[in-house]
Amino acid sequence: MTARVIDGKAFAANVRAQVAAHVARLKEEQGLTPGLAVVLVGEDPASQVYVRNKGTQTVEAGMASFEHKLPADTSEADLLALVARLNADPKVHGILVQLPLPAHLNSELIINTIDPAKDVDGFHISNVGLLGTGQKSMVPCTPLGCLMMLRDHHGKLAGLNAVVVGRSNIVGKPMAQLLLGDSCTVTIAHSRTKDLAEVCRRADILVAAVGRPEMITGDMVKPGATVIDVGINRIERDGKARLVGDVHYESAAAVAGAITPVPGGVGPMTIACLLANTLTACCRANG
Ligand code: GUN
Repeated sequence: MTARVIDGKAFAANVRAQVAAHVARLKEEQGLTPGLAVVLVGEDPASQVYVRNKGTQTVEAGMASFEHKLPADTSEADLLALVARLNADPKVHGILVQLPLPAHLNSELIINTIDPAKDVDGFHISNVGLLGTGQKSMVPCTPLGCLMMLRDHHGKLAGLNAVVVGRSNIVGKPMAQLLLGDSCTVTIAHSRTKDLAEVCRRADILVAAVGRPEMITGDMVKPGATVIDVGINRIERDGKARLVGDVHYESAAAVAGAITPVPGGVGPMTIACLLANTLTACCRANG
């Protein structure tokens, strides 16, 4: 079998176009412009690239982008004061504090200071609790993007066996909650799981979010399964810098029914869902 390649780049372009159309209507009919504030502390090169891309795509969707770039030695009090100002600003509907933060800053404290209604990352403890109890919440962008691609490919997900490899708060745990919400039978596997290959081979849907290059190989994939690769790992091979996922693409694609590539799979969906969440936050804030 050769897997169908799920084109996340095209899917994300479509989501962004739908968001842009809705934003244009909001402006015309209600004079509203959704606004996203992104806060970057320090100069981590990967974070700088993400923040730049977020800003560009926010503006392309017709939204207002507010970028706050702070020095690496910013105090916790100053960062908390900025978050409080953004919480109170009616032009700001979504707030994203780029992670990881420098070590001297308490990430949990800062994230939990964001107004949950503006928490477009879905990382605030209130949103985590709402998602876990099946209530209306802000949903973390990467798992939301994965869910959208899965629903598009499968239609209904009810009854399917889903295995999520990775238990992070940002991807693994919310991904499992979303799949459970769609009535999958969900297993969360991780680095301490016994016989990981056997667990993975039970999956109709296999989501890899472990952050280990090419750890999931074709022999761990059930024939015909859908494989979603969340990993973005920079490695060097044959003297060249390369981007690979958590899935060994060639061997997995030979067995799977459908698979997301890296790059061009899950990655582009994250920012598209961030824009969708900002639009949602703006609509909820304005009744
Ligand atoms: N750093 C890497 N991914 C993310 C994300 O989705 N949100 C935030 N805030 N920081 C990140």
